[in-house]
Amino acid sequence: MKLLVAVGSLSWYNLRESMGDGMSRKRTFTKRQLRDALGMFATGVTIITSSTRDGELLGITANSFNAVSLDPPMVLFSLSREAHSLNKFETSDFFAVNILSTRQRALSDRFARASVDKWKDVAFETGVTGCPMFPGSLARFECYTRFHYDGGDHVIFVGEAFSMMLGDPADPLLYFQGNYRSLTPDVSDLEWS
Ligand SMILES: Cc1cc2nc3c(=O)[nH]c(=O)nc-3n(C[C@H](O)[C@H](O)[C@H](O)COP(=O)(O)O)c2cc1C
Repeated sequence: MKLLVAVGSLSWYNLRESMGDGMSRKRTFTKRQLRDALGMFATGVTIITSSTRDGELLGITANSFNAVSLDPPMVLFSLSREAHSLNKFETSDFFAVNILSTRQRALSDRFARASVDKWKDVAFETGVTGCPMFPGSLARFECYTRFHYDGGDHVIFVGEAFSMMLGDPADPLLYFQGNYRSLTPDVSDLEWS
């Protein structure tokens, strides 16, 4: 055991030595490999919404949502610098998070597309901040935007939740390896004998 620890720390030491301080300089993987590896992290799916001062509604499908802190209650998501709504999210003081169930898969698809009229014929309720929120979500949070951080090709939004609602229990919509999944096995995946 001791030997293994020694060998482990030796190779870590050698790696640091050979790469120098800027360890990211010698990346050992391609972008495709990175995407595939990150896709191994199974997540839920959310739609993050907001609205501008002149009442324009914003919404994007995001699986980068994560819990940050219980006290104060803080959450985060990251938004691509290529998203059309980035500037509007950045200038808004609030955002809302809708955690989706499998029944909201079509909604997830709709808010993952940039160029369509996302809000046409979509049923929603309006929070106290003016953020649109979807009935049938597993949980919803309304947040003050507290911080923006540089996250490379994304901007990280950290918000403090001031109101939340737990919906009726339902199967969560999951995302894994670039596909939607559910906790309940799809009958088409089952082998019948
Ligand atoms: C399951 C899923 C998760 C996604 N998660 C994110 C995310 O966390 N951050 C992000 O910037 N885009 C994410 N996207 C892509 C955005 O939803 C998509 O680019 C969106 O249309 C951007 O909207 P906009 O260009 O109108 O602002 C995700 C897409 C899917 C299907």
